Amino acid sequence: MTVITFGTFDILHYGHIRILKRAREMGDRLVVGVSSDTLNERKKGRKPVYSQEERLAILTAIRYVDEVFVEESLELKRDYILQHKADKLVMGNDWAGKFDEFNDVCEVIYLERTPSISTTSIIEVVKGIPENL
Ligand code: CTP
Repeated sequence: MTVITFGTFDILHYGHIRILKRAREMGDRLVVGVSSDTLNERKKGRKPVYSQEERLAILTAIRYVDEVFVEESLELKRDYILQHKADKLVMGNDWAGKFDEFNDVCEVIYLERTPSISTTSIIEVVKGIPENL
């Protein structure tokens, strides 16, 4: 049973580890599509702190991750799911409902997002910008 997930995974944090662990436990192989630097700039309006090569290397070193690849385009999601023969697509519930269209090729599962942590909030803390302004 192959599970696939997608994300930027910049400045790896506890929320990332938790979703990877839970996604891996839903099958016996976890494939991670890592947003390219270009896609990330388009999607989130900023360059990731770590380059796509660095993010791939970090994810490869995690025991829950069996395979990584670069996600170049959001429009290719269906192709990536089919190419990697994924049985399940797992995403955090900040994406709830957004990937239901892929239910015809795999089971789409949204897992609860870990509260109080994100790459954005880490960047804000490092920059010294008060979060609640
Ligand atoms: N995720 C999670 N819990 C968090 C943060 C992220 O479960 N606290 C999940 C997301 O739902 C997604 C995956 O981790 O399925 C990758 O998310 P990503 O966008 O890379 O991480 P964020 O920390 O949300 O990044 P940003 O602040 O830049 O949006």
